[in-house]
Amino acid sequence: MKTKDNLQSAFAGESQANRKYLAFADKAAKEGFNKVSRLFKVVAEAETIHAHKHLQIMGGVKSTLENLNSAVEGENYEYTEMYPQFIAEAEQEGNNAARASFHLANEAEKAHGALFKKAHQAIEGNQDLDTESFHLCPVCGYVAENHAPDKCPICGAPGSNFKEY
Ligand SMILES: [Fe+2]
Ligand SMILES: [Fe+2]
Repeated sequence: MKTKDNLQSAFAGESQANRKYLAFADKAAKEGFNKVSRLFKVVAEAETIHAHKHLQIMGGVKSTLENLNSAVEGENYEYTEMYPQFIAEAEQEGNNAARASFHLANEAEKAHGALFKKAHQAIEGNQDLDTESFHLCPVCGYVAENHAPDKCPICGAPGSNFKEY
């Protein structure tokens, strides 16, 4: 069936367009083009609407317990297979910027995977997480529970720069 693959492709494409337009919006704002920046932001949001619709139609959003399973699997795949291979290939090709970017993401995915596992255990026991707050490293994507560390254990960024959720 073509449509199943097409939904997957459309979801991937719209998801990428969302993140790309947000990066373009930041750049436009830095260059002083605030209206163009807002245009990139509003269209980015529209691409998210499309992406979510495609994902729902292909059955990609289930119960939170199942979604956490999917999230654990996704993070696990990234740090056990995808990034280790990408890191090795970037090393072979001498692309240090890509190697460093893959490395930071790989380490952060381990932390994400652990948090999703913890959430999965909580939901299995019919409880929400008892975490008070989450704290995001704006450099590498590491996520800490309850309070920001003095500095990021992955990239060394100061905890004062972490963003609270
Ligand atoms: Fe992740
Ligand atoms: Fe970090």
